[in-house]
Formats: sequence, C-alpha cells, structure tokens
Amino acid sequence: MNKLTIVKAENLKAKPDSDHLGFGQYFTDHMLVMDYTEGKGWHDPSIVPYGPIALDPSAMVFHYGQEVFEGMKAYKTAEGQFSLFRPDMNLKRLNISCERMSIPQVDPELLLDGITQLVSLDKDWIPEGEDTSLYIRPFIIATEPCLGVRAAKQYKLLVILSPVGSYYPEGIHPVSIFVEDEYVRAVRGGTGMAKTSGNYASGIRAQEIAKLEGFSQVLWLDGVEKKYIEEVGSMNVFFKIGGEVITPELSGSILAGVTRDSVMTLLRSWGIQVIERKISVAELFEAAREGKLEEAFGTGTAAVISPIGTMKWGEEQIAVAGGQTGEISKKLYDSITGIQKGVLEDPFGWRNII
Ligand code: COI
Repeated sequence: MNKLTIVKAENLKAKPDSDHLGFGQYFTDHMLVMDYTEGKGWHDPSIVPYGPIALDPSAMVFHYGQEVFEGMKAYKTAEGQFSLFRPDMNLKRLNISCERMSIPQVDPELLLDGITQLVSLDKDWIPEGEDTSLYIRPFIIATEPCLGVRAAKQYKLLVILSPVGSYYPEGIHPVSIFVEDEYVRAVRGGTGMAKTSGNYASGIRAQEIAKLEGFSQVLWLDGVEKKYIEEVGSMNVFFKIGGEVITPELSGSILAGVTRDSVMTLLRSWGIQVIERKISVAELFEAAREGKLEEAFGTGTAAVISPIGTMKWGEEQIAVAGGQTGEISKKLYDSITGIQKGVLEDPFGWRNII
C-alpha cells in the first residue's frame, strides 16, 4: 500500500443541527478510498471530497453481495480531545468478515492511520450534544466487472463519516420486540458471524412486519431449531435473570459485538456474573412468568444499550422491568458513553485519543 494522498474539498458543506441528527442521514466533507487489484494488493489510499463513486453495472457486489462493513464511533472528549472507541476490535473483526467473504485482508494499522487522518480532517463534524457522536463506516465492495460467481479480483474500500444522534428514536428508553419464529437471520455455517450486507438485507422483511404490528424490532432465533435466542434487531442481546446476566454464546451465526464484549467486561468488573450460553425463548418466557426476568437489553455500536420494555411470543406479551429502563441497562449506558466521551476513567484502555 503506498502513501496516503489527501485532496481537500474546495467547498465545505453546512453542518446539520446537532439536536436533530437522526442516524446516518448526513455525511462529512471527505471520505477515504483505496483500491485492491489482484497481483498488486491494496493501493492508492487517498482522502478525497465526499461524493458519488462510479461503478460498472456488472461490478460483482451488485450481483452476489460480496461486501463487508464495520461501524465505529469518534467523540470529542470533555477535555477537547478526539477519541475513537476500541478501533482495534473493529479492524480485527473487519478482517474476520473479509476472510468469511473471501475478500483480501487489510493492514489494520494502515487503515487505522487512514481513519485517524480522515476523522482529524473532518473533526469539526464531531457533534458535541448528549447522545451524539461521529459514526465511522468502513466498507469494502467487490468492484470487478464480471457476472461469474467467484471471488472478485478487484475491490474498493471506503470510509465515510456521519454525525449521528440516537439510533432508535426511543434512545435509552425501552423498545418493544416480538419473537420472530418464521424468518431467520442467519444459519449455522452461514455468514451470521460476519458483518456483511446480506445478513441485514435478509432481516429487513421481518423488521417491516414488526413495525406494521407496532414493534420496534424482532428477537431472532437460531436458524436450525428456531428455539434458541441469537440477536435482537441488529444487536447482541442480554438478559438479567435471577441476579446473573446471560447472553447467547457465539455460535458462528452471532456477531461478536464490540459493545457486547465491553458490556461483559464492565459487568464482571462490577462483580456481576455473566454467562455466555444457549438460552431458549421458552426458558426466557418461563423466567418472565416466574418474575425472575429482571432486565433485557440489546447492545451495539449504533445504539450502545437499547433496553427491551416488552416482548411478545405468539399470543403472550410480557413487560420487562415494568416497561422501564432497568438499573443495569442505565448504568452500562452511562459507563460506556462516559468512557467514550472522557467524562469517566478508562480502566480498560478503550479510549483511543487521536
Ligand atoms: C450496530 O449496532 O452498530 C449495528 O450493527 C447497527 C448498524 C447496522 C446500523
């Protein structure tokens, strides 16, 4: 990979109102691009003005979905510094996804350097309001013009930046979900553990149905027996049952979330037992009926912590934590965002000042 070149935008865009950002609707002035050609490797990294890219209509990504992406965030800290949260974890996962999708590996250090330079250049776009951040979206697409089904010989890596508010309009307020027992998100041996567009595309129909029925998200079950809980919406999921916290074990069809890992580390540091194991929807509802289900929440980079207030399975609907944000959910949200924004100590070295 040769040296990063920077072409600055001549006209800078007006910044959006940071009280009404929504999620992923605005994009900064610049983006990072880099190409891969078989025999040459990754080459010509450059930061250029943000804008459309030209692709051949036969580019393989359009036809067979050979793509991977990541999601991470940058913050302005209380002391006016700029930070990334655990970027090493995201870049490691990017290469795990690349391997699954037969996309060439990327040098994580060089990519982190490129992302750091991009965020530094567009640092005025990092919003400072509560529940806001600069979302960083690295992604790789197969660009070779060819209709044959095989690994492409040409790729493009891009990194785009978006100032964001809460992912869900509910923010840290509880969402309602239903147990999806028709469609599945991922199957054993499939691509569930990779961050690739197909996993999300296949989930959209269930999400649309959930919306029509008045729910925010669906609780995904395993694709083999439709019995064990895997994820919630596009997030990992946790349940506090009888004093201990349970999250589905990484089975191959579940994404290894960076927030999932941070939540487990924090809970354990607070002396709370966290168990990674299979948990069936029947066990979950049984615990709820017996009054043992204390809290349920989703975890992800975009929403951080999303408490679950109600759950519906077939005809049965239960309230969790009285439909309120539970104590652990709130403490986790405050701790993670506090570390991210530099208002709390960073005992695990997760804040990466750039
Ligand atoms: C996340 O929770 O960070 C996600 O994966 C959601 C993203 C697809 C917007």
